[in-house]
Amino acid sequence: MFPYASDAPDTVAPAAAPPGWWREAVIYQVYPRSFADGNGDGMGDLPGIRSRLPYLKELGVDALWLNPFYASPQADAGYDVADHRAVEPVLGTLADAEELIRYAHELGMRVIVDLVPNHSSDQHEWFRRAREEGPGSPYRDRYHFRPGKGASGELPPNDWTSVFGGPAWTRTENPDGTPGDWYLHLFAPEQPDFDWEHPAVRHEFRSILRFWLDRGIDGFRVDVAQGLIKAEGLPDIGRTDQRRMLGTEATPIWDQDGVHEIYRSWRRILDTYPGERIAVAEAWAPTAERTALYVRPDELHQTFNFALMGASWDAEEIRQVVDTSLEAVRTVGASATWVLSNHDTCRHATRFAGPQPEGQRHRAGDRTLGLRRARAATLLMLALPGSAYLYQGEELGLPEVTDLPDEARQDPAFARSGETDGFRDGCRVPMPWTVAGPSHGFGTGGSWLPQPEGWGMLSVEAQMSDPDSTLELYRAALALRRRHPGLGAGDTVQWDDAPDGVLAFRRPGFVCTTNTADRALTIPLPGRPLLSNSPIEDVEGPPGAAFALPAHTTVWWTA
Ligand code: NOJ
Repeated sequence: MFPYASDAPDTVAPAAAPPGWWREAVIYQVYPRSFADGNGDGMGDLPGIRSRLPYLKELGVDALWLNPFYASPQADAGYDVADHRAVEPVLGTLADAEELIRYAHELGMRVIVDLVPNHSSDQHEWFRRAREEGPGSPYRDRYHFRPGKGASGELPPNDWTSVFGGPAWTRTENPDGTPGDWYLHLFAPEQPDFDWEHPAVRHEFRSILRFWLDRGIDGFRVDVAQGLIKAEGLPDIGRTDQRRMLGTEATPIWDQDGVHEIYRSWRRILDTYPGERIAVAEAWAPTAERTALYVRPDELHQTFNFALMGASWDAEEIRQVVDTSLEAVRTVGASATWVLSNHDTCRHATRFAGPQPEGQRHRAGDRTLGLRRARAATLLMLALPGSAYLYQGEELGLPEVTDLPDEARQDPAFARSGETDGFRDGCRVPMPWTVAGPSHGFGTGGSWLPQPEGWGMLSVEAQMSDPDSTLELYRAALALRRRHPGLGAGDTVQWDDAPDGVLAFRRPGFVCTTNTADRALTIPLPGRPLLSNSPIEDVEGPPGAAFALPAHTTVWWTA
């Protein structure tokens, strides 16, 4: 029996939707450069996304989150925004964005857009003027310009390093050509950090929020939400391994208490709009408790929880992640979020394919094993209370592309780290829609990153209507999740006793069992199977009868 997707009607009526659509929504992340190319220039765009919205509707997601599509020189794939109110011409026009929002709404899906408040592009008008006009420019204070240390200011103002490698400071030239002050950039030099102590910065972002809310968007994903406020005086850290401290330790760079006042002011704006507009924070904080502060009732609605993404394929570790994550958000009355893949991380089909050496090129590993575990992990995630974020292509079981030629790589961290880091392009390779044809249906031209051999066999066309395919597994899971009240809702799970290597949890009317071991393990039959990522047999016995849960398998059951 494979995969087991029961057609029998559910016996339990769906619960009334609780207030707060985001609390259990399935949100699909669209990476605009790589989703669909409407004009054949090799780069995905907004008209391309619009043309594929019916596919997302059929997949069964509630909302989409679009990575930045704003005017940008693309030094960091759009996270270097030159104009927050304009669309990058390569990706479309403002009219295209409005049409995309309108059509998504017509199909019953919400739209979340990225907001990048920590930094701008160095081509942003404010920064260009700050640099060109030199010391004394009123635009200087909107960024962090500082004199250097050393006899002639030749050393950076402090010891902070960039997340992308190298110092977090770049020296400027004065208008007369002499060496000038340094400016702070926690990411690439093309991404100068705003100084959020300046009222003009705060005012500007409140206005940007309104600009997009007025265009009907349903929410924002807030980039680097933990970074806006820096400790007063920008003190040294005294350590060189700062990159590893991102989100794991308290530092003067990240997660300063001052950020919360900003989010409270944003929440007031969101709440003035009808239709439950939300914000989800990308906030790397040292503990689950610190992360929960971003989602207090008067702040943002959700924060990404990357704990599941960081967990190995190990029942005990996953159980701890689930418990800690649920407990943290419960204390502030927020809902949990789950994510297994995104545009910054090795895709989970490859993460689970074998060990990935830290800070080195990803390894392809055992692809069959990786995919099997990835499918089991997805079913586990979709059974947890809270909302789930899916990353485009994971519904096709796409692996990380581990053998991209170095000259094709565009991740700014790749060059800045001396090619020892910055391997994010491997999860950004354009989507395969068709088995054959130019760029496998991504567009009529090429694709900005080369698609690997065999990409067409993973395409939507190849998987559509194949009951064994990953695409059909996702569709079945999302359809069941919509119909079944035990999935997604609430804020707790009840763990059942299970042998080592197995996770078994119960929600009202529902049981989820996952075997992370590499051999079948026996559990008491929980009830009637609904869905499974791999073949299961002997499911007809009475509840409690011995059942052999296959290796690397999740089964959903009604109970
Ligand atoms: C987090 C985004 O997800 C990542 O892609 C980007 O490079 C950094 N923030 C900087 O904006």
